[in-house]
Amino acid sequence: MAKFNYKENNSWGNIGWLGSDAYYTFWGDLFARKLAGYFQHKTILDIGAGTGRVWDEAFRLGLEPKELHLIDPALNISRDLSAKPEITAYKTTIDNVQGLHGDVAVFKQSIHHVYDAIGLDLFDAVQCPLFINFSMPLDTEWPLSPALMEKYKPSVLDVESIVKQSSKIIKSTFAVSYPVKIKRDDWCLMLKQRFISTLHDCDDCFLEKEILWVEKNQPDILEFNDTIECTIFLKR
Ligand SMILES: C[S@@+](CC[C@H](N)C(=O)[O-])C[C@H]1O[C@@H](n2cnc3c(N)ncnc32)[C@H](O)[C@@H]1O
Repeated sequence: MAKFNYKENNSWGNIGWLGSDAYYTFWGDLFARKLAGYFQHKTILDIGAGTGRVWDEAFRLGLEPKELHLIDPALNISRDLSAKPEITAYKTTIDNVQGLHGDVAVFKQSIHHVYDAIGLDLFDAVQCPLFINFSMPLDTEWPLSPALMEKYKPSVLDVESIVKQSSKIIKSTFAVSYPVKIKRDDWCLMLKQRFISTLHDCDDCFLEKEILWVEKNQPDILEFNDTIECTIFLKR
């Protein structure tokens, strides 16, 4: 089985529900409407922006940022987005754009990668008074086998702890949930593509066992909530 690593192959936001229109409508609505107070007319830094598709949708729903800087080594944004005057695209890791300033920094399911790469130095690389982080929770509803759950849980970054270590102040926390309905076969395809970072360093045998577990223990159609925890925190 060929190995696949979304960090190299740029697949993350394109597969399963993560590539669906409905998923981006959900996130676009969150960014353009529910969190508009943080984003409207602001200079936004999106660290680990991926396809940037959340922003395509947020613009479509009326968001007008002053500037939007998208940083990702695997950045793959639409032509529409790259043509917007507010956008600056950096196809590189955040440590290569040290000293970037903005009103608000966003990490959507990316802070664990950045923290793995540069630790708390990430707060030197990103100079903002306000940070909005979205990360998967410890208790995810994703249909993971006990073996994969055992690998997943210790890999979850304790965001509140790094916020405190860096002397930032938590302003609020809340969770958002996207209702997923997906064929078991499509879920297995996502697993084969190692879309969850916990699978990146698993060997082929582990992956095959995970897929067998899903085939044996999960229904034809999987239904669960993709719940993401949001932490909003401030520079002291
Ligand atoms: C799970 S994906 C999330 C993508 C996007 N935020 C979204 O929600 O659609 C994580 C992203 O973090 C990016 N990433 C990994 N290391 C990074 C680094 N050191 N600096 C910036 N981005 C990084 C990866 O390339 C990947 O696109």
